Amino acid sequence: MIRRLVVACACLALATLGTGGAAIAADLARGEVLFHYCTQCHGDAGGGSLLARAPAIAGLGEWYLQSQLRKFQSGDRGTHPDDVGGLRMHPMSRLLRSEEDLQAVAAYVASLTPSRPEPVVEGGDSARGAVLYTLCATCHGPEGAGIQAFNAPALRTTNDWYLLAALAKYKVGVRGSNPRNGTAMLMRGMAMQLSDEQAMKDVVAHIMTFADSK
Ligand code: HEC
Ligand code: HEC
Repeated sequence: MIRRLVVACACLALATLGTGGAAIAADLARGEVLFHYCTQCHGDAGGGSLLARAPAIAGLGEWYLQSQLRKFQSGDRGTHPDDVGGLRMHPMSRLLRSEEDLQAVAAYVASLTPSRPEPVVEGGDSARGAVLYTLCATCHGPEGAGIQAFNAPALRTTNDWYLLAALAKYKVGVRGSNPRNGTAMLMRGMAMQLSDEQAMKDVVAHIMTFADSK
């Protein structure tokens, strides 16, 4: 009797696993189709495009992709009149017509090989940046891999020009002044600790040295 129960339980467990696996496969397939909306700006492999001002997204955690896509959809991000890149992304997020679509494309992007963008920003001093980065490490991790518990995304798979632009936007409040976007407000306070553009370039130059530890 006990043995039969065990067998039954095992079958049930397998059956559940089986359906779960199929659902995930379906999500990724759907996500891959939806990703065609994204490639014209973010590149075929999600490695970003300076021309489109669209950052690398391959390498970002699924949780962060989902949260930012929701913020773009609701307008909590990407609606400030001076946020040129955000204003471009805001309508794109609305191509995802349901929560299922949003989750599927986030799962697909998260399954891509993390990008390793080439540095293009000049004039940063990574040694000085290392000192500044000690503040950032608390939330983004010692090597910029991101820490979900702090809602802090990976930084080391993103383009340096985008990191610099993002810091500048937080500092002046083009990103992070909307009270409905608490994580951005928090990060704005951190960007304000960087005294000027040189400090931002220095910290970004340091983040780019993490590329080798990907
Ligand atoms: C018309 C060009 C364009 C298209 C198409 C586009 N994006 Fe974007 N996306 C951008 C730009 C520009 C930004 C940078 C926003 C900023 O500067 O804050 C961005 C930012 C993002 C971010 C935030 C990245 C970060 O590090 O915070 C995510 C996530 C994202 N896009 C996902 C997508 C997905 C998924 C699709 C397809 C459904 C898509 N994008 C389609 C232009 C585009
Ligand atoms: C208290 C935690 C915390 C600290 C410390 C912190 N960050 Fe952040 N950071 C965040 C959070 C949370 C976000 C996501 C903000 C959002 O949703 O817009 C973020 C976002 C960012 C972004 C935007 C990434 C993207 O893909 O758009 C950059 C760039 C960044 N941080 C750099 C830094 C740097 C450089 C430092 C150190 C000077 C730093 N952060 C310190 C929590 C932190």
